[in-house]
Amino acid sequence: MKAPREWHKIFFKNSFYNPASPAALENAPREARFILKQLKLKKGAALLDLCCGPGRHAVEFAGRGLAVTGCDFSAPYLAEAGQRAKNKKVRLRLVRGDMRRLKFKEEFDAAVNLFTSFGYFHKFSDDILTLKGVARALKPGGLFMIDIIHGDFVRANFRRRDWCDMGDHFHLEENSMDADGTVSAWTRIARNGGRALTRTFFTRLYNKTRLTAALHKAGLEPLKFWGGFSGVPLSVKTARLICLARKRS
Ligand SMILES: C[S@@+](CC[C@H](N)C(=O)[O-])C[C@H]1O[C@@H](n2cnc3c(N)ncnc32)[C@H](O)[C@@H]1O
Repeated sequence: MKAPREWHKIFFKNSFYNPASPAALENAPREARFILKQLKLKKGAALLDLCCGPGRHAVEFAGRGLAVTGCDFSAPYLAEAGQRAKNKKVRLRLVRGDMRRLKFKEEFDAAVNLFTSFGYFHKFSDDILTLKGVARALKPGGLFMIDIIHGDFVRANFRRRDWCDMGDHFHLEENSMDADGTVSAWTRIARNGGRALTRTFFTRLYNKTRLTAALHKAGLEPLKFWGGFSGVPLSVKTARLICLARKRS
């Protein structure tokens, strides 16, 4: 199984997938509270939500008095983020761009990258380009929080096939794994018997050691790790890997 080189350009479309599912929307305020507790930002501080998607966290951050910039490649998700901000009566600056080519320079007090919005590229050097762009975007001493799927957990709980009933549709998964990461084919089949739609994607798997090495290459120093937004310690039993890092001065 192989994922197309630029798979994100076809995967992140509302016709196939939207990260703002009802469950994800419900979790966002709690996740945002945990993140802000760790970042300890002052009111008005500048925060970059890199790969903000439909803005479910960005609006929470803005609602707590931060100057939030959301950056994402997907135009429809950015439009949804804008609408979400309007509904919540908060201000968001929304920028369309590729995470590998960030243009920001020493603008932000902190940056976040949430819900496994990292490790998408076939070339490891593209992940490093992304992290270097984050480091460049941060003011000296600025903080970066990243939340991704925990590679050690995925390796220990690997399932070649899986499926679930999502209500309006069935979700089928076929997965393969090598030393670098996983390739997954997701198929969406409408309950009412519509056409099946399959999209294939790649996720580079990171554990604490690998993420630390990548952050170091980009001039970011990891400070703390967690295994979830409840604050649980990182372990092979935790599906998430959350890291707080600081830009090296
Ligand atoms: C799993 S979603 C997470 C979205 C959001 N952080 C959330 O928690 O709801 C991943 C996001 O990364 C964005 N993305 C994928 N590839 C990208 C790229 N090369 N540059 C910028 N954004 C990208 C997608 O459009 C999508 O919004």
